Amino acid sequence: MEDTEQLALFEAKIASGQKIEPKDWMPEAYRKQLIRMMSQHAHSEIVGMLPEGNWITRAPNLRRKAILLAKVQDEAGHGLYLYSAAETLGIDRSELLAQLHSGKAKYSSIFNYPTLTWADIGAIGWLVDGAAIMNQTALARGSYGPYSRAMVRICKEESFHNRQGYEIMMHLAQGTPEQKDMAQDALNRWWWPSIMMLGPSDDKSPNTEQLMKWKVKIESNDEIRERFIDRTVPQAEFIGLKIPDEAMKYNQETGHYEHGPINWDEFFEVIKGNGPCNAQRLKDRINADKNGFWVREAAIAYAAKQAKEKLAS
Ligand code: 3HC
Repeated sequence: MEDTEQLALFEAKIASGQKIEPKDWMPEAYRKQLIRMMSQHAHSEIVGMLPEGNWITRAPNLRRKAILLAKVQDEAGHGLYLYSAAETLGIDRSELLAQLHSGKAKYSSIFNYPTLTWADIGAIGWLVDGAAIMNQTALARGSYGPYSRAMVRICKEESFHNRQGYEIMMHLAQGTPEQKDMAQDALNRWWWPSIMMLGPSDDKSPNTEQLMKWKVKIESNDEIRERFIDRTVPQAEFIGLKIPDEAMKYNQETGHYEHGPINWDEFFEVIKGNGPCNAQRLKDRINADKNGFWVREAAIAYAAKQAKEKLAS
């Protein structure tokens, strides 16, 4: 069948709400977009372990340490899940990781900021995982089967991440004046990077049109950002913290919050590699990959030995 006929069939399938599966015909541009998004998503998950991992040995008590350990392990699992989903498109994770380590591949801007106090762990769970849930619940309705299905489990775990983060912030905000100050300081530093992580404004988003046409993206960056802000501002007010945006106000008519200007120059600088922690994050990921080589080598050798014995039996 001609590609034009194949394309018409492909788009009709998507329009009828069917999922595209790995063995289905798909335009090269669809495959390329998915590899780009899914690999960056996977990279974000494993890089995202670093700022939080920094506080595992510094958690204020055993309960917090156990919760943070579970969250960081979840993120590792999300990364592996997403690399596996990306591999259904015919690319190997070793190639994706080489792109990350070479600095070629992107990962979420948000993980290039430092975690300076324990309250940052609360702010990340509350704001970063909160923003991620908004984005990922939309991706769970996307047209590519393996990606949308991967989101189901990831969103369930993100909800736990988000709740535990908000509980940390609530506990601090209702604690001593120093603890409340620490929580407010973390909110001041993580608020704007968290709304930027949902992507540039729609007028600066070259991928959105094609991704929405093929239902990889169900909502635009600005639509998801608006949902995140509408949900999060009341949560801050509920625990007595102040969103660091003097212009933030609720519009009774639209039912949405209106915020001040976003510093997109900062965003594009960070994704160009000039954020506070970009170099450190890449160095840590390269070291982790090097230090884990012997584990992968042993696991591959063991699997090969098992397969050989199975064949021989
Ligand atoms: N960080 C880094 N790069 C970003 C970015 C961000 N937050 N937002 C956008 N960009 C990049 C895009 O990758 C694109 O560059 P490219 O064409 O070279 O890849 C460019 O900026 C223009 O942006 P677009 O809006 O055109 O890009 P998209 O249409 O892909 O939208 C996105 C960006 C909303 C992040 C989308 O890619 C997406 O939904 N990705 C999947 C979800 C994801 O990656 N989430 C990251 C967070 S993971 C996480 O939160 C872990 C959790 O445990 C906390």
